[in-house]
Amino acid sequence: KNLAVFVSGGGSNFRSIYEATLNGSVHGDVVVLVASKHDCGGAEYARDKGIPVVVFPRRKDGQDVLSAEDLVITLRSYKVDFILLAGYLKLIPVQLVQAYPKSILNIHPSLLPAFGGKGYYGMKVHKAVIASGARYSGPTIHYVDEQYDTGRILAQRVVPVLANDTAEELAARVLHEVFHSYWEHKLYIEVVAALCEERITWREDGVPLIRSKE
Ligand code: GRF
Repeated sequence: KNLAVFVSGGGSNFRSIYEATLNGSVHGDVVVLVASKHDCGGAEYARDKGIPVVVFPRRKDGQDVLSAEDLVITLRSYKVDFILLAGYLKLIPVQLVQAYPKSILNIHPSLLPAFGGKGYYGMKVHKAVIASGARYSGPTIHYVDEQYDTGRILAQRVVPVLANDTAEELAARVLHEVFHSYWEHKLYIEVVAALCEERITWREDGVPLIRSKE
């Protein structure tokens, strides 16, 4: 399967997915990286690895505008099957959601539907979790619809919030450092592997389920 990964920042999830495609744990290829900033860490890493980079949205100066329709055409030209948001901070245009039904995933660093939606991104998520007194947090992988963080939930992992956690400590534990299990990275790879192997089925009530490997 052909994968497009969307990033806005350092792209550690992108890197781990890319590595998983190289070592065979994901049966797919990252054929294009879409970055909301030309010079973010994820885009630089992709260029270094020879992965084509598309900047979206492009700055609206003069001719240099890429519309949502152009982006869909570009993704089609790379024969993209699935779109993986990995720290992409912009809202996905409705044209893209409609062009790729049941094919766009996002990873969010809290147990949705808690601490999701507009305004909950980066450290703000972890600060809000700590301020709430919640004892558990963890990553959620969900399908993407027209709004922030509201699509169908596909997978979650529970991570403890410790008494004196700072937002940075909690972020690190959710992202990768709990018992060396690399939660976000590991979960995303498991889900993308299932996606590429067509192991996701949809219950009649619209709930997506992952079948384990036979
Ligand atoms: C992750 O915490 C992810 O859950 C959220 O943005 C962060 C991206 O981190 N959506 P990275 O760029 O993959 O390191």
